[in-house]
Amino acid sequence: MKLEIVNDEIMGGQCAYQYIAHAMETNTLHVLGLATGSTPLTLYKQMVDSHMNFDHVVSVNLDEYLGLAPNDTQSYHYFMQKHLFQYKPFKHSYIPDGLNGNNACQAYEEILEAYPVDIQILGIGRNGHIGFNEPGTAFDTPTHIVDLTPSTIEANQRFFEKKEDVPTQAISMGIGSIMKAKQIILLAYGESKAEAIKAMLEGPVTEEVPASILQRHNNVIVIADTKAAQLLSH
Ligand code: GLP
Repeated sequence: MKLEIVNDEIMGGQCAYQYIAHAMETNTLHVLGLATGSTPLTLYKQMVDSHMNFDHVVSVNLDEYLGLAPNDTQSYHYFMQKHLFQYKPFKHSYIPDGLNGNNACQAYEEILEAYPVDIQILGIGRNGHIGFNEPGTAFDTPTHIVDLTPSTIEANQRFFEKKEDVPTQAISMGIGSIMKAKQIILLAYGESKAEAIKAMLEGPVTEEVPASILQRHNNVIVIADTKAAQLLSH
């Protein structure tokens, strides 16, 4: 894994953007895997402000809350539209169908087969989750329905009016699906991610820390700010 330590999330967004720009310039970016949460926002801002045109690139998103319609303001469909797609349309943008449960999982795996991901953007949960793959998820899982852990529900509560409004389940690309991406760029900012970053980079590869599996991928770039990197020993 390659580690890039940056001062803050603005620089992190610029750094990640450089990788995307390079892949665009060398015509190696056909499918871009996207993530939600606050972490990728500075990258999306860079993309929005760029002169780049993504209308020949397919995007696939990692996850979606179960039970939320695409036009629900808390859905990840809505989030992506708001922060990226309304400014930079892609050739086609795939996001799991939150209203279609089990059928959506198989359908999504077929989409990923048809559109293998060239670069996957990832954030990381405080407990080391990637996508919505919570601790304990088997490393070979395909797209599946997930019961969110209390810590994830609590962390995501800030986007909702009340805790009761936070969905308790989601559809997520599995770890098996994520690992098929040719290149993975994981972003992490702030002190609340420091333990997860240490466990991911310096701890054992264990299903208790879903992101630790990335140690076994041959093309991962971790972009962390100094706060998220503060517990690293090297
Ligand atoms: C959610 C998303 C993840 C994201 C994580 C961290 O659980 N499903 O993809 O990485 O939150 O979110 P944030 O970037 O807001 O800290």
